[in-house]
Amino acid sequence: MEDTGRKKLLLLLLLLGAAASRCLHDETQKSVSLLRPSFSLPPSNFRSSSLILPGSHDPQPLRIQTCYIKDPVSDGAWDPEGDGMSGESRALAAVREAAQRLQGVLAVPPVQGPLLLSRDPAQYCHAIWGDPDTPNYHRCSLLNPGYKGESCLGVKIPDAHLRGYALWPEQGPPQLVQPDGPGVQNTDFLLYVRVAHTSKCHREPSIIAYAACCQLDSEDRPLAGTIVYCAQHITSFSLSHSDIVMATLHELLHALGFSGQLFKKWRDCSSGPSVRENCSTRQQVMRRDEWGQLLLTTPTASHSLAKHLGVLGVSLGVPLEEEGPLSSHWEARLLQGSVMTAIFDGAQRTRLDPITLAAFKDSGWYQVNHSAAEELLWGQGSGLDFGLVTTCGTGSSDFFCTGSGLGCHYLHLDKGSCSSDPVLEGCRMYKPLANQSECWKKENGFPPGAENPHGEIYHSQSRCFLANLTSQLLPGDKDRHPSHIPHLREAELTGHCYLHQCTERGTYKVQVEGSPWVSCPPGKAIQIPGYYGLLICPRGRLCQTNEGTDAVTSPPMSLSTQDLFFRLSLGLAGPPGHSLGEEEREELTEAILQALVSRGGTDRCYFHSPSITTNLVFTVHMRKSPGCLGPSVGMLHRALTLTLQKKPLQIYYRGANFTTEYTKLLVTSDHNHSMTHLGLSIGFCLTLLILVCTLGTMAYQKRATLQVGPSAPYHSPELQSTRGPVGGIREV
Ligand SMILES: *[C@@H]1O[C@H](CO)[C@@H](O)[C@H](O)[C@H]1NC(C)=O
Ligand SMILES: *[C@@H]1O[C@H](CO)[C@@H](O)[C@H](O)[C@H]1NC(C)=O
Ligand SMILES: *[C@@H]1O[C@H](CO)[C@@H](O)[C@H](O)[C@H]1NC(C)=O
Ligand SMILES: *[C@@H]1O[C@H](CO)[C@@H](O)[C@H](O)[C@H]1NC(C)=O
Ligand SMILES: *[C@@H]1O[C@H](CO)[C@@H](O)[C@H](O)[C@H]1NC(C)=O
Repeated sequence: MEDTGRKKLLLLLLLLGAAASRCLHDETQKSVSLLRPSFSLPPSNFRSSSLILPGSHDPQPLRIQTCYIKDPVSDGAWDPEGDGMSGESRALAAVREAAQRLQGVLAVPPVQGPLLLSRDPAQYCHAIWGDPDTPNYHRCSLLNPGYKGESCLGVKIPDAHLRGYALWPEQGPPQLVQPDGPGVQNTDFLLYVRVAHTSKCHREPSIIAYAACCQLDSEDRPLAGTIVYCAQHITSFSLSHSDIVMATLHELLHALGFSGQLFKKWRDCSSGPSVRENCSTRQQVMRRDEWGQLLLTTPTASHSLAKHLGVLGVSLGVPLEEEGPLSSHWEARLLQGSVMTAIFDGAQRTRLDPITLAAFKDSGWYQVNHSAAEELLWGQGSGLDFGLVTTCGTGSSDFFCTGSGLGCHYLHLDKGSCSSDPVLEGCRMYKPLANQSECWKKENGFPPGAENPHGEIYHSQSRCFLANLTSQLLPGDKDRHPSHIPHLREAELTGHCYLHQCTERGTYKVQVEGSPWVSCPPGKAIQIPGYYGLLICPRGRLCQTNEGTDAVTSPPMSLSTQDLFFRLSLGLAGPPGHSLGEEEREELTEAILQALVSRGGTDRCYFHSPSITTNLVFTVHMRKSPGCLGPSVGMLHRALTLTLQKKPLQIYYRGANFTTEYTKLLVTSDHNHSMTHLGLSIGFCLTLLILVCTLGTMAYQKRATLQVGPSAPYHSPELQSTRGPVGGIREV
């Protein structure tokens, strides 16, 4: 019991942390200088190796190779021998999953041969030849004695991944300092991964991870980047695996091109027949509109937003978040729930949306699989005025709210309270509560036997509904004069968790504790048998994707499934001063059971483990045993509810009358059974995962470090990098 309490608290911290996590991409990317290959004379063997088989330039799924670089122990309090291992394997598992996901989304003409990264002449070279009449003009004449190799966001790039470098005499052939490394085979993007407690993590405790792009190819497509995971989040198990995967996806998309510093390098390939033919740098990627809103103006993204808002034909830019001189995120008022907004809101509430994918198409570097996009519900079909600071408070859209009441988050997975945050700029929406707002988490539900007056059910298929339902079967309601019962005074509609089941796209049924499934027409308010009050069926929010209708073929929790049981509790009143011994209680239990069986008009086989306490609370579990003939346990449960409500049970035992004072029905799944099952399979997966990761890293490191053997002839990088004259190089 203690243990589960602690788990819950940790979970809370994690969600809080996640909810407050701002992305730091711009600041991070600014600290990294972007290198691109600087050879203006492509080395001869490069040319030949890149002219191979016809069709080799057709786009293929993007191959992201990860390289985990162990952090030096000195870098802080993190102990790589202790928790570090779990941090490392969690990070690597997340990176692999994110990279695999992107393989189905982005494609590029594959890099031919091994991927080799460039060295920065401004780093290794102290001086170059300055006389244009000498053959080695502009080549390195003097090495920088302090050159420590290349790094990317604090990660030292292994020599094996880098081109070599050489020193040039005034005339004649170069003197090799370091040959080309073997490079990395079958790779289009090299991602360095680091788990550390960096000063950035220390300064901003809510940061989960940050990333930057470090090298570009000759057409400016990102070739390499680094992602740094803040050790305190990745080792604490406060974030779920899917949260880390989603945060990784966000960072990876920054490094692959969704970045204020890379927008201006995007290419226009519209005149060419396919990806990367006849491309030129885009004339315009961003502009500010007349109200000062920063927009991404590229055609595919604009079209995708117009389609999303239901205003096709209107040419819109996609609003970007205001983040200083640069901006690397979508405006959250408009694109709440997109993976590329600035505040991470948990994996369950985040989508790899069509507008983000459209933007990747517009970069000119990638072919995009648009069918991999996940539907973005926020603002769908809401028109041109949606998400403006001037309209969000007018009640014109039910995606926004006013005041500070309780309701449902727009995805209906969570209960929410009406509130704002810095990126919403005064607009308000129902944001998940600080704790236990998730309807889809079983562990948020009521412990067995607890009062549940509103009949809530927490379950993976439960959703948040605006309702003011109150059970008609509460203790102490014997007099049944609704006007005298305090909780029946006009109750406000607030968010509550109930089971749902999609019937077709856009239509669904709901179930409240102890009720049958009731059809819930979108936009209508319905009544639930056994309850006072109303339940509002949201329009356009539930069962919108096909994923929802799948639930029908394998119902989430229909009342007849075997993993369910009902617990029926009856509170009895006996004659005053009556007390029963153990044997008498057994006999009374049997008598009550007989009475229940005859009331329900069924067989004994539905009832299991009856018992009664000394203060006369009778409990029995109801489940339809195999071979049991008759109605489903759900129908029986319903029948008993109604009959006990109409007429209390009366048992005459040993000359005294015992009467039911209240009835309580709990719907639960078979806890003990399913929990053990779950525990086992998780343990098993985890072991597998760690094993796979360790093997994966070892194999990879082997390839990267053991092959610094003889290499291809060295090719001189000319010092005409795109960065122009750099401090540190002078002409002699
Ligand atoms: C495109 O995405 C869909 C949906 O994720 C996937 O089923 C399909 O295999 C992907 N196509 C390619 C070529 O990766
Ligand atoms: C590329 O553009 C030029 C000039 O616009 C055109 O002549 C050429 O045919 C184009 N090539 C391809 C492959 O589309
Ligand atoms: C949950 O949050 C409420 C306020 O929002 C607070 O009163 C309550 O103590 C919290 N419960 C836990 C278990 O943290
Ligand atoms: C539930 O809410 C509706 C609409 O606000 C109201 O008319 C009704 O009286 C409420 N019922 C209860 C039982 O509170
Ligand atoms: C028990 O209840 C029945 C029906 O209400 C009544 O006829 C009978 O007298 C009661 N017996 C006792 C001992 O109270």
